[in-house]
Amino acid sequence: MYISKSDILKLNDLVKNLEEFRQKLTEIDYIHNKKVFFDIMKDLRKYLLTIENQNLYKIFLHSKYYKFYKEFFTNINMYYVRSLESLQSISIMTKGIHNFDSFANLIDKDLIKQSFETKGNEIKSLNITSKTKTMVAVWCGSMPETLLYFYENTNIKNIIWVDYNHEAIFMAWEMISWLNLDKITFHQWDGVDYDYKEADIVYIPIFTSPKNRILNRIIETWKDDVQIIVIVPKWLWNLLYEWVWSVNQRLKIAYREDAFTKHIAQEVIKFVKYDF
Ligand SMILES: C[S@@+](CC[C@H](N)C(=O)[O-])C[C@H]1O[C@@H](n2cnc3c(N)ncnc32)[C@H](O)[C@@H]1O
Repeated sequence: MYISKSDILKLNDLVKNLEEFRQKLTEIDYIHNKKVFFDIMKDLRKYLLTIENQNLYKIFLHSKYYKFYKEFFTNINMYYVRSLESLQSISIMTKGIHNFDSFANLIDKDLIKQSFETKGNEIKSLNITSKTKTMVAVWCGSMPETLLYFYENTNIKNIIWVDYNHEAIFMAWEMISWLNLDKITFHQWDGVDYDYKEADIVYIPIFTSPKNRILNRIIETWKDDVQIIVIVPKWLWNLLYEWVWSVNQRLKIAYREDAFTKHIAQEVIKFVKYDF
C-alpha cells in the first residue's frame, strides 16, 4: 500500500483528534457528569462520521494506533449506549403514556430514535411470509427498541430476544410487561452458545459481538431456510462496533447494502445457507 506524505499528515491529524477525545473521556467523571459525557460521545460519533476517506481508513486500520483506540472507544461506547438505554426505559415507564399510535412516539432519546428509524432499512431484505414463525435476535439491551420495531412492523408470531446481560433482560422484560405485549420471549444466553434450531430469522445487530463466533454457532444449529441479518459498522464507526472479519464458507451473501444515515455508518448483510 503506497502511503504519501499527505496521507501521513492526515493520519497524524486523525490520531491527534482521537487522542483529544480519549483524554477528555478519561478525565471526565461520567457517573456524576453524565451530560458532559453524553455531549463528548455525541461529538465523537459525529466526528467519526466525517472520516469517509477510504485510503486514510485503511492506513489507520493497519497502523499501530488502531487496536489501542478500538479497545478504548468500543468499551466506552458500550457504556454510553447502555446508560442512554436505561434512561430511555425509565422515562417511558415513568411517563405513564398508555395510548400511543407508534412506539416511536414513546422514544425521546436521540440515539434510540435514530436506531429505531434505521430498522426499516435493516430488515427490508428479509423475506417474511406466513411461514416465518420464529425470529431470534442476539441482543436486547434495557431499552429494546429493535424488538418494538419488529413487534409493530411484522407479523412474526414468536419473537425471541437473547442477551447475556441480566440487567438488560430484566429491564427489557419490565418494559414489555408494562407495554403489555405478547408473543415475546427473553432468554439470558450468550449468542455464541445459543441453539438457533427454531429460528427462521436471526438478527445480529451492530452492537453484538463476537459476530464470527455467533455465525459459527448458528451454522452448528441452524434450520434449512434460515435468513441471517448482520449489521456491521462502516469506516471509523468500526472503532465503536465490531466488524465481521471473515465469512464462514457455509454462508452465502444474499444481500448487502450500505445503510448510512446522517447519524450512523453501517452496512446490512443478509446471509443464507449455501444450498449445494
Ligand atoms: C446496548 S444493547 C442495544 C440494543 C438496542 N436496545 C436495540 O434494541 O436495538 C446491546 C445488547 O447486546 C447484548 N449482547 C452483545 N453481545 C451479545 C452476545 N454475544 N450474546 C448475548 N447478548 C449480547 C449486550 O448485553 C447489550 O445488552
